[in-house]
Amino acid sequence: MVGDVEDPEAITAFAKRVVAAHPALNVLINNAGIMRREDQTRTRDLRDAEETIVTNLFGPIRLINALIDHLAARQNAVIVNVSSGLAFVPLSGTPTYNATKAAIHSYTVSLREQLKGKVEVIELAPPAVRTELTPGQSTRDEYMPLNAFIDEAMALFGRSRRPRRSWWSA
Ligand SMILES: NC(=O)c1ccc[n+]([C@@H]2O[C@H](COP(=O)([O-])OP(=O)(O)OC[C@H]3O[C@@H](n4cnc5c(N)ncnc54)[C@H](OP(=O)(O)O)[C@@H]3O)[C@@H](O)[C@H]2O)c1
Repeated sequence: MVGDVEDPEAITAFAKRVVAAHPALNVLINNAGIMRREDQTRTRDLRDAEETIVTNLFGPIRLINALIDHLAARQNAVIVNVSSGLAFVPLSGTPTYNATKAAIHSYTVSLREQLKGKVEVIELAPPAVRTELTPGQSTRDEYMPLNAFIDEAMALFGRSRRPRRSWWSA
């Protein structure tokens, strides 16, 4: 099933369709994202910034909202939010992207606390990986090969013990 996370009504309709077709659904991975270069040194059309916020930040917030009642009622439910290393060390050429990923990191910390005992909440913060998130990125030697990233991420998901607390929590 295809869904568009930029469109609030499409998200609501998608959530209803997917739950009706797959009532046992107990995992949500917020992976969809876009990354655009931006020049902050002069006045510009802010469309790229706005679309980045809608897709990368409102997308997960809206999709979680549409599915939370269903997920909270399931056994062993999990929400995975994909942030980025750039949430912590920004790349200056992609300021709004970095900011959305920092926001997703923060949102995930709160979500984990609120859903404690109901839904497990995991943050996946990938390094630079060879995909076409930005043009040409899939051929850069210094980026992590996609298969190696998938193997490592899946191995981490398979661990029975994951860090549950943020470093500043008591
Ligand atoms: N690759 C990296 O170096 C890296 C590093 C850190 C974090 N990440 C994060 O990892 C996630 C996946 O990125 P990727 O590297 O795999 O890039 P990608 O190959 O460009 O994949 C992005 C995915 O998001 C989907 N998407 C974009 N806009 C959407 C929308 N409005 N509605 C629904 N789906 C939409 C795309 O679907 P379509 O193909 O249909 O457009 C595509 O499947 C992103 O959140 C990204 O920020 C990637």
